[in-house]
Amino acid sequence: MSDLHKNTQPVAAQAPIINRLVVVGLGLIGGSFAKGLRSSGLCREVVGVDLDAPSRVQAVELGVVDRCEADLATACIGADVIQLAVPILAMERLLAELAKLDLGNAVLTDVGSAKGNVVRAAREAFGAMPARFVPGHPIAGSEQSGVEAANAALFRRHKVILTPLDETDAQAVALVEQLWRALGADVEQMQVDHHDQVLAATSHLPHLLAFGLVDSLAKRSENLEIFRYAAGGFRDFTRIAGSDPVMWHDIFLANREAVLHNLDLFRDDLDALRAAVDAGDGHQLLGVFTRARVAREHFSKILARRAYVDAMHSNNLIFLAQPGGNVNGRIRVPGDKSISHRSIMLGSLAEGVTEVEGFLEGEDALATLQAFRDMGVVIEGPDHGRVTIHGVGLHGLQAPPGPIYLGNSGTSMRLLSGLLAAQTFDTTLTGDESLSKRPMNRVAKPLRAMGALIDAAPEGRPPLTVRGGRRLGGMTYEMPMASAQVKSCLLLAGLYAAGSTTVIEPAPTRDHTERMLRGFGYPVTVEGNSATVESGHKLTGTHIEVPADISSAAFFLVAASIAENSELVLEHVGVNPTRTGVIDILKLMGGDITLENEREVGGEPVADIRVRSAKLKGIDIPEDLVPLAIDEFPVLFIAATCAEGRTVLRGAEELRVKESDRIQVMADGLLTLGVEVEPTPDGIIIEGGSMGGGEVYAHGDHRIAMAFSVASLRATAPIKIHDCANVATSFPNFLALAGKVGMRVTEEGKS
Ligand code: S3P
Repeated sequence: MSDLHKNTQPVAAQAPIINRLVVVGLGLIGGSFAKGLRSSGLCREVVGVDLDAPSRVQAVELGVVDRCEADLATACIGADVIQLAVPILAMERLLAELAKLDLGNAVLTDVGSAKGNVVRAAREAFGAMPARFVPGHPIAGSEQSGVEAANAALFRRHKVILTPLDETDAQAVALVEQLWRALGADVEQMQVDHHDQVLAATSHLPHLLAFGLVDSLAKRSENLEIFRYAAGGFRDFTRIAGSDPVMWHDIFLANREAVLHNLDLFRDDLDALRAAVDAGDGHQLLGVFTRARVAREHFSKILARRAYVDAMHSNNLIFLAQPGGNVNGRIRVPGDKSISHRSIMLGSLAEGVTEVEGFLEGEDALATLQAFRDMGVVIEGPDHGRVTIHGVGLHGLQAPPGPIYLGNSGTSMRLLSGLLAAQTFDTTLTGDESLSKRPMNRVAKPLRAMGALIDAAPEGRPPLTVRGGRRLGGMTYEMPMASAQVKSCLLLAGLYAAGSTTVIEPAPTRDHTERMLRGFGYPVTVEGNSATVESGHKLTGTHIEVPADISSAAFFLVAASIAENSELVLEHVGVNPTRTGVIDILKLMGGDITLENEREVGGEPVADIRVRSAKLKGIDIPEDLVPLAIDEFPVLFIAATCAEGRTVLRGAEELRVKESDRIQVMADGLLTLGVEVEPTPDGIIIEGGSMGGGEVYAHGDHRIAMAFSVASLRATAPIKIHDCANVATSFPNFLALAGKVGMRVTEEGKS
């Protein structure tokens, strides 16, 4: 565990913002709040109140408070903030007592694990909810209890949920928030009811089930024997049954309605599972288990990332790239991202089972996979690149339980929007910060012309809400830009649209959708620069072997070209002619690249690619190669930097709307490394020469992070690359493979 998570650092002292803080109830939570704020210096005096005399003595001895009182009224004289940290069922009595006192302008707040009951009790005691009462709930705890366990760092990096009402004073909320933040907490606001439902579902229900299961097994004497065999599973599932029974008894009574609501929902699901077991319905069981397993991994991954983001106040995973080195060996980079997305989409819409091998287990493709699970498709895996999709047919998708989160993946959002425009249900598609800035009008506009109803944020940005129940009509669409995502989106909508749908592209773009549709037995007509589908056919489950991604291989093609004494073989790479622009451009620059063992696998051409060090020279990149190398430009700019002479790229304005503005972000980084570079509206001019070291920013763009990692091979000093976490979207094992062939790039903090 990193230091960030150890919860041991002292709180840095600051100037006081209030005179007197009173903490009522000096247990673990109240004591920790008092102790942390006392050492923060934000309060001139911290006063404790507790019914238990030894706790009062200890609180002063341990430095938790400045002084302690037995009497509430005495303690509250002159208080600026009063924190109520008594057990949740004692709150009612405490509030009734407080209502009798003159509290002046004091701000009240509390730490109860349920909020509806506290608000009700406050209304009853005071006649109305006091404007200066800010209900709160820190989500933190410890196995220990009592003031002796008070820990000033208990709330560091933990969530605190405040549930102010409409009538709550905004200044009071801001003050309480400031105090929690001073303890290192991550403060959020929620509606009271929402808080109680969320906590009932995520905390209270699991505790009820754990207590209930242990008791249920323990009280049946014939079952006692099983405890002897209770290994990991039982122990893990029931660990929380070791929690404080009195506290939990209080919580269930306090949050009764929300717990009952969630318990009823769960009981229905449990009944459905029982019925499936009873009926021997393996398909149903597999559906529940695979969805659950991946939902858990998916969420923990997202949450782990969130935690990391919170920790650094930005998505700042840092790569440290040491200068120099050679690149040698044989590797296979992970599966093609575009083909992986499409395998899940078409496999889900097919009738029968589709087996996928070589699936890219990166976050983008996994987001697509999760989206289809959310729409009721049973998908097994991924397990070492193997995925089994139990297709539901073109009309078998079900409404997802909520908005579909697609992370960083533009391909998922654009392709899905076409497919969803023709479903019977509404769907909302959301994404991370980068995806939320990307243009979606390029798909929304033509889809609307086909009859779709799509709502977007201003300027056509995500989130997108795609309305169901629309009848789409086919059309002929001339794309204003060369985009495989737009083409694929419209072809997917075309599977459902009346008549035929034709997409005309201004320049060839990747044709994986067309090839794969045919692989599933769906007719597609390709004539020159147009592709046409018509509705009324079906997809039949098939076998798909995903080749290695040429876009990931590109980093190593450039690495071995620019590094001295290098020779590398990249195995089983997809060399679909709509994707090989990077090879053509490198060859034009003088690259030494040969394709070996060329073959066709599942409708896609594949080869092993041998690349050796070469003396590169600058070129004017032919514009017709731009769409065929669209994702490879960040690393091609590194090749240009290592080439002799000037390289000029034009006609590549699409690069400005990728995961980042790749022209500007690369230009900024190259300038930092001392390269002579000039961004232009639709491209870049790079003067080849030497490269120094320095700190560059990937802006959360996976391909920028990897491109600068490759640059280090020819840099004269280390390169520190910020914001690299998204490398996991397309190339999760990049650092391992880079290390294997001789590059020296590590995550900061790891060697
Ligand atoms: C992709 C198409 C390209 C590419 C993206 C994947 C696809 O986007 O940049 O990484 O899988 O269809 P555009 O269609 O926006 O060019």
